[in-house]
Amino acid sequence: GLPEYIKIVEVGPRDGLQNEKVIVPTDIKIELINRLSKTGLPVVEVTSFVSSKWVPQMADHKEVMRGIERHPGVQYPVLTPNLQGFHSAIAAGATEVSVFGAASESFSKMNINCSIEESIEKFEEVAKSARNMNIPVRGYVSCALGCPYEGNITPAKVAEVSKRLYSMGCYEISLGDTIGVGTPGSMKKMLEAVMKEIPLSALAVHCHDTYGQALANILTAIQMGVSVVDSSVSGLGGCPYAKGATGNVATEDVIYMLNGLGINTGVNLYAVMEAGNFICTALNKKTNSKVAQASFNT
Ligand code: HMG
Ligand code: MG
Repeated sequence: GLPEYIKIVEVGPRDGLQNEKVIVPTDIKIELINRLSKTGLPVVEVTSFVSSKWVPQMADHKEVMRGIERHPGVQYPVLTPNLQGFHSAIAAGATEVSVFGAASESFSKMNINCSIEESIEKFEEVAKSARNMNIPVRGYVSCALGCPYEGNITPAKVAEVSKRLYSMGCYEISLGDTIGVGTPGSMKKMLEAVMKEIPLSALAVHCHDTYGQALANILTAIQMGVSVVDSSVSGLGGCPYAKGATGNVATEDVIYMLNGLGINTGVNLYAVMEAGNFICTALNKKTNSKVAQASFNT
């Protein structure tokens, strides 16, 4: 049956804001994270320790990491592509990191400027240093259901990259539908392949809603036993190296669906909608959450 509890990983402050054209002021980012921290969300991804030449939106990573309030029971992971990023993250006070690989060679090259094999070597260095410091490492696999440059990606390739990340010590593998092209059909095939290599309890799904399939894909994944779902407040987001990638599935919409299924998340939907309203007002944009749209219109 369905999991009783689903862990929501809020990625809006990172995956969302990295793709906004305007650079969001640091104090607004900090305020957003502080608000999200009070909603019951167990994980709020904070920022990325990547090159500010590549992603100027995340250039204030140190200030954001240092500026947020830490709520007990909330994890605050940050993206670190290599040792340089890992060391800056730790110096800024990070206590959890994520490495981010891909199941597509072309995407790996465009996103982090190296092949999959080279990226694994860099991630192994991060994982080793993290292990020595008792820092948990999460692993992302982008293009799990398709690539903006190569199109189709085989489930076998996703399973292979996932297994390598898991073997180096990543406690959770987040399978990213980077450009939102997946369907419940491709999600099922991909998960069947990955589940042969990795325990179900260590898998997460990270769905972008570009083709409007995200909630259907998430429902498919949780029906198969996946109990960790990444989402973004107000459906903010995209990826700077994946043209056409829209936001992640909205956190509000995921929680609404899970509430309807009687699945516990521990998250207060109304409080997330208020945090979404805060960031949309600051960005002067309309929310991408259908649930927030419907609720604020009535
Ligand atoms: P590179 O140019 O190959 O790196 O970039 P390098 O090692 O050759 O160094 C070149 C310069 O970058 C040097 O600076 C380094 O100091 C600097 P310079 O001497 O020229 O002044 N550098 C760094 N600066 C800050 N932080 C670092 C770092 N490392 C080197 N960690 C690099 C390699 C990975 C840094 C670059 O390609 C990069 O920053 N890429 C951005 C990747 C990114 O943030 N992508 C978006 C997130 S992934 C995503 O959104 C997908 C996900 O949501 C899941 C899904 O949806 O599928 C996770
Ligand atoms: Mg993403």
